[in-house]
Amino acid sequence: MGGLAAAPLLECNKVTATFGSLVAVDHIDLFAAQGETIGIGGPNGAGKTTFLDLVSGLLPLTSGEILFEGKTVGGRPPHRICHMGIARTFQLNAGFEGMTVLENVLAACVFGSPNNVSRGLFCARPDLERAEALLVEFGLEDKASDLVENASVLDRKKLMIATALATDPKLLLLDEPVGGLTPPEIDEFVGVIEILKNRGLTMIFIEHVMRFLTAVATRAIIMHHGATLYDGSPKGIAHDGAVTEIYLGASAKTMQAAEAGST
Ligand SMILES: Nc1ncnc2c1ncn2[C@@H]1O[C@H](COP(=O)(O)OP(=O)(O)OP(=O)(O)O)[C@@H](O)[C@H]1O
Ligand SMILES: [Mg+2]
Repeated sequence: MGGLAAAPLLECNKVTATFGSLVAVDHIDLFAAQGETIGIGGPNGAGKTTFLDLVSGLLPLTSGEILFEGKTVGGRPPHRICHMGIARTFQLNAGFEGMTVLENVLAACVFGSPNNVSRGLFCARPDLERAEALLVEFGLEDKASDLVENASVLDRKKLMIATALATDPKLLLLDEPVGGLTPPEIDEFVGVIEILKNRGLTMIFIEHVMRFLTAVATRAIIMHHGATLYDGSPKGIAHDGAVTEIYLGASAKTMQAAEAGST
């Protein structure tokens, strides 16, 4: 194609987070280009969620630097980072329990937009139309008036994504989007990620379900003890000696067999 390579959408330089003497995230360098779908795996306690907490501003950086579209993210509060164009979902289902499915998305439409904040947080007809369109996009329109606390795990996972999209992000961070789902639901969620890719979103997601990660990621990262153990092709993780030894164990063989069966 020629020409200069585009600047990364997200640039993390030596990003580090410590809790007392524990180094949870240890000098992570991660560049995400526009359009990438990066899947992060790794053992429990590897620092994956902590890394997303740093990018989304829920935790302060101990050291290092995070740039989004060339602008410094570190030190800004989470709602400002959201207004810059970074949205996220959570490992455990998050939402306003006492509110309906529609009201949850509506709240994100109103509070997630920097323009709305300046006009005084009133809910206007375009907000309602946008919220309703998001529910349709994720097949939640029949559940619009259900209380969130009564929604199924699958619907709550979809709702978290619809809520994140209501803030009109460029970068979407997903923490275990299919954690707790059944195998057929996981297959259905591959389609949800396709919707997000077709919207042109850049994504970084954490996932332990390797068949999902390799199905949707364009690039895989495996973290261990806060550091990057592997950064490369999703298919390559099942063939990497260190990843197999530390993380995949016997499931590396299953992944290799599945790969052989699909080619
Ligand atoms: N607020 C906190 N205070 C102290 N220690 C913390 C805090 N948050 C995380 N940790 C520790 O930091 C390390 C990394 O945790 P983190 O939640 O980022 O792991 P993870 O890779 O997301 O794991 P999992 O796959 O189980 O979700 C763990 O040892 C955890 O106990
Ligand atoms: Mg986690």
